[in-house]
Amino acid sequence: MLKRSWGSNTNEHPNDHCPALFIAAPASGQGKTTVTAGLARLLRKQGKVVRVFKTGPDYLDPQILAQASGQPVDQLDLWMAGEAYCRQRFYDAACAADLILVEGAMGLFDGEPSSADLAALFGIPPGNRHGCERHGPNRCGAGRGAG
Ligand SMILES: Nc1ncnc2c1ncn2[C@@H]1O[C@H](COP(=O)(O)OP(=O)(O)OP(=O)(O)O)[C@@H](O)[C@H]1O
Ligand SMILES: [Mg+2]
Repeated sequence: MLKRSWGSNTNEHPNDHCPALFIAAPASGQGKTTVTAGLARLLRKQGKVVRVFKTGPDYLDPQILAQASGQPVDQLDLWMAGEAYCRQRFYDAACAADLILVEGAMGLFDGEPSSADLAALFGIPPGNRHGCERHGPNRCGAGRGAG
């Protein structure tokens, strides 16, 4: 849940919190975009406003996710853009959306800062898309139940 009252557009939504889910996987090419786009389209068809973010930088995924959700897709990168930028994007979106989805980059624990770092910083629960191929060190985190 992301608190709407922390953003710049306060009091614009009847509920205080916006549900959010972080879609992660043990590696690249495991179906994060496929699952995220499918979820976004399903919820959109149910009449929900879904804002999707991609842990960046990425060129193609935001275009796919924007098509699926019908909303602009911003990229969030703690190292390139910083925490304050990411926080502002999240809370602006939380004021306008019924639900937020965030697609991770690569494996959940890849990179520094990783997708797991972004999810943890903003308290967004990671849902792991488990595939059978291209598993690297991220298996350790998945095995421990992280994500
Ligand atoms: N346009 C496409 N045509 C055929 N196969 C595709 C296409 N896009 C993705 N795939 C395949 O579908 C599977 C899932 O891809 P997807 O892009 O959803 O993974 P991902 O976890 O989002 O990857 P990334 O970490 O690069 O964002 C992969 O095996 C990929 O090669
Ligand atoms: Mg992807």
